Amino acid sequence: MSILVTGGAGYIGSHTCVELLNAGQDIIILDNFSNSKEESLNRIRKITGKDFKFYKVDLLDKNGIENIFAENSIDSVIHFAGLKAVGESVSKPIEYYTNNISGSLNLFELMKKYNVKKLVFSSSATVYGDPKKVPITEDMPLSTTNPYGTTKLFIEQILKDLYVSDNSWAISILRYFNPIGAHESGLIGEDPQGIPNNLMPFISKVAIGKLEKLTVFGNDYNTHDGTGVRDYIHVVDLSKGHLKALEKLNKEQKGIFIHNLGTGTGYSVLDMINAFEKVNNIKINYVISSRRPGDIAACFADPTKAQMELNWKAEKNIEDMCRDSWNFEQKNPKGL
Ligand code: WQD
Repeated sequence: MSILVTGGAGYIGSHTCVELLNAGQDIIILDNFSNSKEESLNRIRKITGKDFKFYKVDLLDKNGIENIFAENSIDSVIHFAGLKAVGESVSKPIEYYTNNISGSLNLFELMKKYNVKKLVFSSSATVYGDPKKVPITEDMPLSTTNPYGTTKLFIEQILKDLYVSDNSWAISILRYFNPIGAHESGLIGEDPQGIPNNLMPFISKVAIGKLEKLTVFGNDYNTHDGTGVRDYIHVVDLSKGHLKALEKLNKEQKGIFIHNLGTGTGYSVLDMINAFEKVNNIKINYVISSRRPGDIAACFADPTKAQMELNWKAEKNIEDMCRDSWNFEQKNPKGL
């Protein structure tokens, strides 16, 4: 029996595939390479010494997805595939709603048709909107401020309704905080196309000299140093959380479970710059500018529920995240 990993060539997907293969799981990867490269698959094979089936399929291609279910014996699905750039989603809402929601509906429909009812879904802390208080627990109000976040919220609602309609499903919804870092080998990591949106890949590109300086988006927030605070979590810790979520589904056999995957510690932009400089003994040039539209002051998790129910806790610290990010950048200055 195999685990189908949609978006398995992507940043979090590839790291999760490494952990699954290292744990002796049989996986099948589906990806359309819209935000990843085929080289990522070779790197997964190189790290693990293991092979797997791959299908280049877009989730809007229902026949392409059905072919995977028809040709293989699939036990469960980890669903990463989706567009995920907040800013881009504001300018391209139709693409985001079509790709993320219609693509997910196609997947769920075929899971139902082939009686595959174990699903781990990649959601995001963005569903909490601008939280009234931090740390954030799973029972806090949900709201979104951009189409990308709204797709995540809608898909969560679809899954809740699906479970109500048929409670033989076993569904895990994982709300990621801010994944950064890379596998210790430096063979896989965050490899954004073009100018990075997110903080850590931007810092890494400044460190390697590909970008001149970092722009810090605002230092007038109500935080300890005025810059935005986020819960940065090492991508390997995050990936291991998926294996724990799958274990929970295999144990419970049915139910719907929602968990924050964060460290519970918030770091500001200036904290991240200082940590990166110290760990890697490198200077990061930056300027302070005005706030980025849509940004919030602070967002970090209360990870207690995942610790209690998934027996999962982030183990790597901010130094590990900065070291591993830089190691990947140095080994892949031109990307994968
Ligand atoms: C982090 C902090 C910025 C870039 C987003 C999505 C979220 C998830 C992770 C998908 C903020 C500051 C950033 C820069 C900066 N993605 N910053 N200069 O916005 O917290 O979360 O990415 O699931 O859903 O919303 O991450 O890395 O963009 O920003 O000052 O050049 O760094 O203002 O305070 P964010 P980020």
